[in-house]
Amino acid sequence: MKPSWGGLGQAIGRQSLVASRTAGERMVVLLGRTWVVQDEVYSPACSPSTEVSTAALPYPTGGTLLEIGSGCGITAVHGLLHGLATAVAVDISPQAVANTRLNAELHGVTEQLTVLRGSVFEPLGADDRFDLVFWNAPFIEVADDHVHDGALSAAYFDPGLRGVRAFVGGVRSRLAQGGRAFLGFDDIGGRAVLGDLAAEHGWRLRIAASEAAPRRALVNGAAVEIEVDHLLFELVCDAPAALVRPKSGSWDACPAGLGGSRLSHDEGRDHVGS
Ligand SMILES: C[S@@+](CC[C@H](N)C(=O)[O-])C[C@H]1O[C@@H](n2cnc3c(N)ncnc32)[C@H](O)[C@@H]1O
Repeated sequence: MKPSWGGLGQAIGRQSLVASRTAGERMVVLLGRTWVVQDEVYSPACSPSTEVSTAALPYPTGGTLLEIGSGCGITAVHGLLHGLATAVAVDISPQAVANTRLNAELHGVTEQLTVLRGSVFEPLGADDRFDLVFWNAPFIEVADDHVHDGALSAAYFDPGLRGVRAFVGGVRSRLAQGGRAFLGFDDIGGRAVLGDLAAEHGWRLRIAASEAAPRRALVNGAAVEIEVDHLLFELVCDAPAALVRPKSGSWDACPAGLGGSRLSHDEGRDHVGS
């Protein structure tokens, strides 16, 4: 594992934000389809992370997806075109919500997709559960009192990692029996923090997919080039019975429905946070 990137991670985040912002509205071709990416919405062209995760997620045929932070909507729409029955997409950004709806319309899946604005699980009904829950998260931790300068900033920076903490802490109660949870995260963000956070909530992190890509950033006036790993983690149940047992019901200590299963093509990848 690389060390925490701290200031370098923030510099790369700021640079990506500026690059994405400058590009404005555009069409992006990804996974064999064309997508509209609107102003102030995260561009999947600026990093391999959207493609890595979207291509690797195990969309259950006839199943349901909850995508947190849908951005322009690629993952939810792609999943619906690859076997899902329905999906719910949530994003904190009104621009992202509108952009997700636009791409759903472009690809003919508006009937199967519900798009909600809000933070992490807040806009959901108390009993909403899903077969697959995923977030390609803003992975750069900034101070708790950081104020976003526009909607796109929330795609990169997570003040106090509040969003990621809410996801890791709450995802178990959003999984249907047999459901699986995944988180996209770059290793320039708080990967070590993420491992500890996952362990606190009875999860260990399994790398389901990854891709390394070179990134350049100006740090204190000097150009620095590093290799960034774009990672898709599965949250695998690693909890004692007391942590995972629902208030009512009769689940076992670590039921198959709580992330205990594996992607067959990922056997042998390394594990962190356990
Ligand atoms: C890295 S971008 C990923 C966008 C898209 N899923 C993709 O892969 O192209 C992170 C997304 O999470 C959204 N986001 C940030 N904080 C959030 C929160 N607390 N609740 C819901 N969405 C959030 C951002 O607005 C952004 O669209």
